[in-house]
Amino acid sequence: MTLLVWTSKNSVGVKELDAHHQKIFSLLNSLYSSIAKADTKETSKNVLQELINYAQYHFAAEEKYFDQFNYDQKDEHQSQHRQYEQKMAQFIKDIETTPDFVFSYKLLDFLEDWWLGHIGHEDKKYTQCFNSHGLF
Ligand SMILES: [Fe+2]
Repeated sequence: MTLLVWTSKNSVGVKELDAHHQKIFSLLNSLYSSIAKADTKETSKNVLQELINYAQYHFAAEEKYFDQFNYDQKDEHQSQHRQYEQKMAQFIKDIETTPDFVFSYKLLDFLEDWWLGHIGHEDKKYTQCFNSHGLF
């Protein structure tokens, strides 16, 4: 089942980071599928954990380039990443206590909005800087 489809409109103009975002969309679709099929909480939680781990790897890659290229919007961007991580840590705590349907709805809604918004607004701001340093 599909929640998000990656298209060229989602491109940030850097192959490596586009590939990361594609992988993230695919993990979001797996999570959606797991929730829609009413898999056990354990199964959904495993997919969620995989998404959290992968996002950590992805943020580290972006942040490495921020340092390398002295990116001028590094601070605002990194603070968005940290806020996301805090929100996900809260979701992981809530998963045990919130009724399934409330949890799933809130989680998917948050994830869809956050990733589309973050890629579309914040990530696209680094395209020019990264490209000017030869990273495409
Ligand atoms: Fe980012």
